Amino acid sequence: MTHTPDVFGFFDPRTWSVQYVVADPATGCCAIIDPVYDFDEKSGQTATTNADRILEFVRERGYRVQWILDTHPHADHFSAATYLKAVTGAPTGIGAKVTEVQKLWKGIYNWPDFPTDGSQWDRLFAEGETFKIGGVDASVMFSPGHTLASVTYVIGDAAFIHDTLFMPDSGTARADFPGGSAKALWRSIQAILALPDDTRLFTGHDYQPGGRKPLWESTIGMQKANNIHIVKCTNEAEYIAVREERDATLPMPKLILHALQVNINGGRLPEPESNGRRYLKIPIDALPGSPWG
Ligand SMILES: [Fe+2]
Repeated sequence: MTHTPDVFGFFDPRTWSVQYVVADPATGCCAIIDPVYDFDEKSGQTATTNADRILEFVRERGYRVQWILDTHPHADHFSAATYLKAVTGAPTGIGAKVTEVQKLWKGIYNWPDFPTDGSQWDRLFAEGETFKIGGVDASVMFSPGHTLASVTYVIGDAAFIHDTLFMPDSGTARADFPGGSAKALWRSIQAILALPDDTRLFTGHDYQPGGRKPLWESTIGMQKANNIHIVKCTNEAEYIAVREERDATLPMPKLILHALQVNINGGRLPEPESNGRRYLKIPIDALPGSPWG
């Protein structure tokens, strides 16, 4: 039984997101993590270019998709989970605290009838819950801070840490979205850094500082030695101060209001209206105090 799954990152330059295929080389079973459903906010067009690229890769390799996983409800892109489930038949999963995020955004979107029981996914993972990808053991760590529902998937010796730590030259994720917390994020990061030293870390975004090529894989050792936020902060209070000062300067992601209504619904677009067209709903003045972008 292998402890070292094959991991393939798929970078989406439009959203600086990294999508993953993680596969058990022995059985050919794989999971897709954080797939992107393309959306152009200027024209309102959607596309499945990113998701289809992953499907093509999976077909070429002869993999069987066992899981479609999200690490959290994303604020910068739509999730392709529902699309990929329709194509592959594989079940979808997310952290169980997604119900808290649903409750929060149900209020913001004024959707009194929106179900906030997480029934939009096949599986809601509890803290510490285990599952398998082929013969590889996988487990779930709650990693709140960036969002209430963020989780880390530890799959063999690989941890999918999404918006906690980025590459060492990029620091850590913001913690100022509704339900975010710099204190919780610090604690989640400490729990990740307490994983075994040889754990491979795979981040969810790379913003290519200085225009370098996109990177997404690091190690616990690299993060401890070089992460610009971790080396600067020796304790929780210092980190909270650094994080909150930085977050106060950041405009909201351009798709946060577009994306959350899709992503708290498992990556489903709004139902078509009587003319057959789907419409997004954008609340006005729902996120006061945010710097203008
Ligand atoms: Fe995120």
